[in-house]
Amino acid sequence: MTLLTKERPLERLALPPLDKPPEHVAIIMDGNGRWARQRGLPRSAGHRQGTENLRRIIRAAAEFGVRIMTIYAFSTENWSRPRREVRLLMRILEMVIDRELEELNREGVQIRHIGELDGIHERLASKVVDACNYTRHNQRLILNVAFNYGGRDEIVHAVQNVVRAGIAPEEITEATISKHLYTSDLPDPDLIIRTSGEFRLSNFLIWQGAYSEIYTTDTYWPDFGRSAFYEALIEYGNRRRRFGKTDDQIDAEFARQSRIEGRTV
Ligand code: FPP
Repeated sequence: MTLLTKERPLERLALPPLDKPPEHVAIIMDGNGRWARQRGLPRSAGHRQGTENLRRIIRAAAEFGVRIMTIYAFSTENWSRPRREVRLLMRILEMVIDRELEELNREGVQIRHIGELDGIHERLASKVVDACNYTRHNQRLILNVAFNYGGRDEIVHAVQNVVRAGIAPEEITEATISKHLYTSDLPDPDLIIRTSGEFRLSNFLIWQGAYSEIYTTDTYWPDFGRSAFYEALIEYGNRRRRFGKTDDQIDAEFARQSRIEGRTV
């Protein structure tokens, strides 16, 4: 049985297409442990349910017109969890690759990895590399898996590579750093979602998230299904992104764009 077969019927209700879906959504999938504790289950049950939910959300992202999704699956800080849990999270990634790769590939998902493969068991590391290679031509959805990832770590690596490339200090701009991050060829996330009522970035995409909209919900990750995801995207659509500008400037830009596109304002 694949993860897909457990989808709840209500989750498949038709939802109107989104006017302007975010291009890049990043997700901090938090609350697996609390979901399990609430039910008197071991933490592993929470991670398993969280994995099922991930499957649903990947599908929903493609359905809703999201082009890039970045998920925080294992942070550099997660190594300090009990050894058994670390092993389980590694096993989950391996299992997802073993069992889901063909279907993800069929659905047009391009898998990418961000983070360090150093320190990860060789067998798993090579499965990650193979999965990325296998799906590299897919275009429907780019799925960036942040695994053994830390935002500060990423910036340190970027700076090291800038120095290695011999770039002169006065030539270093924000674009230089962006180009040396794991996400160098991708746009910054438009929206970062964090589940389970926490309000931190926890070292996730700290450079790329400078202007991202942030959406938090009390719902634990295993329960954050298709309709909850849709709601987050609707709320994103109602936000006004100003990138440091004033409301008047944004209104003027909107009116100008509307004139160009022949819309009445
Ligand atoms: C946080 O919940 C979640 C994680 C540490 C990552 C787990 C993610 C999954 C199982 C999804 C799929 C994973 C992979 C590898 C593709 P928590 O354990 O911190 O929950 P708590 O804060 O309630 O204890």
